[in-house]
Amino acid sequence: MRNQARHYSLLSLLASAIYVTGQNLSSSQVNTIKSQLSSTDLQSWEIGTYSQALLELDTPSWSTLTPGVSFPSVAAGSSPSSLDEVFAYAKTVAQNWTVVNHVSSDNASSIVAPLLANSAVGDPPSIGFTLVLANLTGRAQADGVAYADAATSQLEYLLEGAPKTPDGAISHRPEQTQLWADFVYMVPPFLAFYGTATGNETVARMAWEQVKLYRQYLKSNNTQTTDSGQSTVGLWQHMALGSGADEGFWSTGNAWAAGGIVRVLGTFAASPMSSSLQTEQADLVQWAHEIQLALGTWVDSESNLLHNYANDTTGFLDAASSVLYAASVYRLATLLDAGLPASSAKSSDGTSVGKLVSSVHGSVPIAERIRSTVFTAQSSSTGSGLAHFTSDLALTPVVNPLNWGAQLQLPATETKLAANNGLAMSPEGQAFVLEMQAAYRDWVGAGSPGQNAAFSMRFGGVSKTILAFVVGLGMWILV
Ligand SMILES: *[C@@H]1O[C@H](CO)[C@@H](O)[C@H](O)[C@H]1NC(C)=O
Ligand SMILES: *[C@@H]1O[C@H](CO)[C@@H](O)[C@H](O)[C@H]1NC(C)=O
Ligand SMILES: *[C@@H]1O[C@H](CO)[C@@H](O)[C@H](O)[C@H]1NC(C)=O
Ligand SMILES: *[C@@H]1O[C@H](CO)[C@@H](O)[C@H](O)[C@H]1NC(C)=O
Ligand SMILES: *[C@@H]1O[C@H](CO)[C@@H](O)[C@H](O)[C@H]1NC(C)=O
Ligand SMILES: *[C@@H]1O[C@H](CO)[C@@H](O)[C@H](O)[C@H]1NC(C)=O
Ligand SMILES: *[C@@H]1O[C@H](CO)[C@@H](O)[C@H](O)[C@H]1NC(C)=O
Repeated sequence: MRNQARHYSLLSLLASAIYVTGQNLSSSQVNTIKSQLSSTDLQSWEIGTYSQALLELDTPSWSTLTPGVSFPSVAAGSSPSSLDEVFAYAKTVAQNWTVVNHVSSDNASSIVAPLLANSAVGDPPSIGFTLVLANLTGRAQADGVAYADAATSQLEYLLEGAPKTPDGAISHRPEQTQLWADFVYMVPPFLAFYGTATGNETVARMAWEQVKLYRQYLKSNNTQTTDSGQSTVGLWQHMALGSGADEGFWSTGNAWAAGGIVRVLGTFAASPMSSSLQTEQADLVQWAHEIQLALGTWVDSESNLLHNYANDTTGFLDAASSVLYAASVYRLATLLDAGLPASSAKSSDGTSVGKLVSSVHGSVPIAERIRSTVFTAQSSSTGSGLAHFTSDLALTPVVNPLNWGAQLQLPATETKLAANNGLAMSPEGQAFVLEMQAAYRDWVGAGSPGQNAAFSMRFGGVSKTILAFVVGLGMWILV
């Protein structure tokens, strides 16, 4: 008995001293993150991003990132209760839109206004897909809320009210024409959703057009590649045009863009218009992967995380952008594996999707390194049992989402809160975690496409785990 107890404690001591390669979060950890976000006063883009995370995580059968889902026909069925929280956001936002714009039954269909009063053009549309979904389920009457009018008002504001470049890129800002990579996660997915839901191919195609224009302005023309193969070719600047533009290769901006492009791709693929949007889908694959390929070369080989600015390797590490990057890689690999779009589809420059698959698979091991690092279990030191989460399950280290050059000070004590613009966590980063959890689950469910590419590169992590096991076993035999 005594000996056995000794063996046990020695083993557990050993186990607590090592990192255990992580898989995913437990359902109670997921629930903690959800309830924390649900009880937070979120910014417009955070409501949109969290709603998207909830859709992917809790109702994959309605998410256009799930291969085989038909949109909008899926929304004609009765809606599962797992969408209640998403619809609650849609309802509050549509009600507030009615109040703020003094909407009456006479003028509801002619209002041109953003969904929420906000300092940016590009952020409120991130919520738009939830209103489009709510409208499709026919709950407008029961709720007494004009979901379709509110969504159309937001669309018209983007098309008519917002500043644009001469070639038609919609500005992310109202006071000057300035393009931010963030926009690509907020606006094109809404345009694709709205266009598909209303059967308006012109609007759906605008999603692709905006991505195309944003890429033209933001994609680096720089051809610098370091000796170790790190490349800025294909990275996007955070912003272009106007005064005060941040021209650095902000990792979150790149991840927003890759994630948004993949969402547009999924919606096109799920749409009845899919066959007439083949070239567009091939372009989207190419453009999302171009970012993933470049960004992947900057994932730090020791920490398995991106730096806040991808090529500023002296800056702080950012797990939030790393996680959104990984989610976008799992999603793209999963869609391609399902033949969405077909490998024969060709992009505008003549590249066939089939030719891109092995390169997309080449990014999978990088996503795997990020995921297993972020979900690595660690003994007590952080209090959460996970190396990259505080005891409140706040992802760390992360950029301050309200101050893109600064790191969020975590865990957030009284004094640190002030330096954090009042934030105790990064709400967008927490939503990205849920998206990676869902994307990984669905990628595993699809048979882990690209995992073979993953094996050789994952060997480092695997061998460490095996080593720890062997050492542990040796100790047990010795004692
Ligand atoms: C994720 O974790 C849950 C337990 O929380 C487990 O049931 C599930 O199989 C895991 N999924 C994957 C893909 O590893
Ligand atoms: C809706 O309006 C109420 C009252 O002004 C406000 O407290 C709430 O934050 C708003 N919600 C959203 C999602 O805009
Ligand atoms: C809509 O109609 C109401 C009631 O007549 C009016 O108060 C409001 O100003 C109108 N809103 C707009 C944006 O025209
Ligand atoms: C609202 O839903 C109806 C079908 O239920 C559809 O015909 C209409 O196009 C939708 N409008 C918007 C803006 O989504
Ligand atoms: C599609 O939407 C655009 C923008 O609102 C509109 O101008 C156009 O008339 C619509 N097309 C159809 C066929 O409804
Ligand atoms: C790259 O070059 C094109 C063509 O000259 C230009 O329009 C674009 O603004 C440049 N991109 C950046 C990020 O400087
Ligand atoms: C990142 O790349 C750009 C373009 O090559 C370069 O101007 C900048 O100095 C680089 N940043 C760092 C920190 O090396």
